[in-house]
Amino acid sequence: MVSRIIPVDEFDLVIFGATGDLAHRKILPGLYRRYVAGQVPPSAQIIGAARTKQDDAAFRLEAKAAITEFAGKGDDLSQLDDFLNHLRYVAIDARGTDGWDGLKALIRPGVVHAFYFSVAPALFGDIAQRLADHGIADANSRIVVEKPFGRDLATARALNATLAQHFAENQIYRIDHYLGKETVQNLMAVRFANMLFEPLWNAQYVDHVQITVAETVGVGGRGEYYDHSGAIRDMVQNHMMQLLCLIAMEPPYHFDPDAVRDEKLKVIRALEPLLPGDIVRGQYRDGVDGSDYLKDVDNPDSRTESYVALKVRIANWRWSGTPFYLRTGKKLRARTSEIVVTFKAPPHSIFDESDGPRSNQLVIKLQPNEGMDLTVMIKEPGPGGMRLVQVPLDMSFADALGANGTDMPDAYERLIMDVIRGNQTLFMRGDEVEAAWAWTDPIIGDWEGGTKRPEPYDAGSSGPEEALRLLHRDNRRWREIRS
Ligand code: BG6
Repeated sequence: MVSRIIPVDEFDLVIFGATGDLAHRKILPGLYRRYVAGQVPPSAQIIGAARTKQDDAAFRLEAKAAITEFAGKGDDLSQLDDFLNHLRYVAIDARGTDGWDGLKALIRPGVVHAFYFSVAPALFGDIAQRLADHGIADANSRIVVEKPFGRDLATARALNATLAQHFAENQIYRIDHYLGKETVQNLMAVRFANMLFEPLWNAQYVDHVQITVAETVGVGGRGEYYDHSGAIRDMVQNHMMQLLCLIAMEPPYHFDPDAVRDEKLKVIRALEPLLPGDIVRGQYRDGVDGSDYLKDVDNPDSRTESYVALKVRIANWRWSGTPFYLRTGKKLRARTSEIVVTFKAPPHSIFDESDGPRSNQLVIKLQPNEGMDLTVMIKEPGPGGMRLVQVPLDMSFADALGANGTDMPDAYERLIMDVIRGNQTLFMRGDEVEAAWAWTDPIIGDWEGGTKRPEPYDAGSSGPEEALRLLHRDNRRWREIRS
């Protein structure tokens, strides 16, 4: 099944930071794919804005090289030259006066105006101010901002306040690219479009939930950024928190931006403060490829975690008593993101099961190999008594939909089109981001105020031993990390 194309209105999209890594890797290739899919309207303009002094032709060449390098394997590049005709460029000084009049002259009245701030957060305020001063943005314009949205509650609040001076909340699109992933949205479809799960989706029937985002990559060329962030700021405060919300939230009354975000916010606000023994931090060492966190970030004394595992409790009627175990890390043995819902075992077994009745598990695989897997007990075939065996009911979404991976739009493609369409459902609201920092701040503060070091783990392993004990002490086990 090939995805349907819902047309969007004519637009001018300005990308601040158009010569940067994100624009090259994600934004421009994503826009090109939407162009090939037929979703970019005929007179749409994509205006690159950055400090580099160059003209339209040079920017088009740069974009061509980036799209060619970062396009997916199955991408059709035959329309690339046509697409490049939609690109314009202005050299602009975010903190000065150069370039702003030129930008204003390019923006057309009567079309959707979106401004993508793909720049360091320190420039958000300057750019917002200049857009307003030059009369380039108005009450109908939209701005898109990337993570990191602050590094704690105070900086996130300050950022929200800066943006609020010039833009209303319904004009601000805060990106968490996990929300643009097809399978992450599927969490809502699975939960709220099926009757099967909802009656069991609570502490009475769910023993515990595991959320894993495991990566095989290390910190790569982002050592400096990462060493000032660590896994909690980089992954937990945003992506993992969003997954937790989508799994734990109440059904919204409608699939409407504020209805969905209100329910997510309630989950974040109901998170109990973390207990000291409920967190394990790790740092990768001694990879066969020579990778070692301390060398990769060029900081032999670093106490920043490249792995974290947490036991999270949600204080509300639905979830009181059901722990959510979260873990994420770099340089792990496989790249996999999945959510495992382990149901309680039947209260009594009528069969002679030597190890007692076993629980059903629902595994929602987010990436790669998106799909669902439900373990059920059945009778082991053959004579000789009633023996039970646990089997998976395994469903790959690609097989079920008859699509291959290339038909699934990348998160950025969807999110940019949602900005043009004016749909904020998959973007974080300011209060959501602040609530997430309010919960993570004390966890980060306790650690930064101490002297303990993260537990080393072998690059290519499943993470630190201590993380296994986090579950063992509750008589539970992590699902094995495998792709
Ligand atoms: C980013 C983090 O937000 O998400 C990275 O900054 C991480 O450190 C990445 O690698 C993971 O995203 P994905 O889409 O590859 O799972």
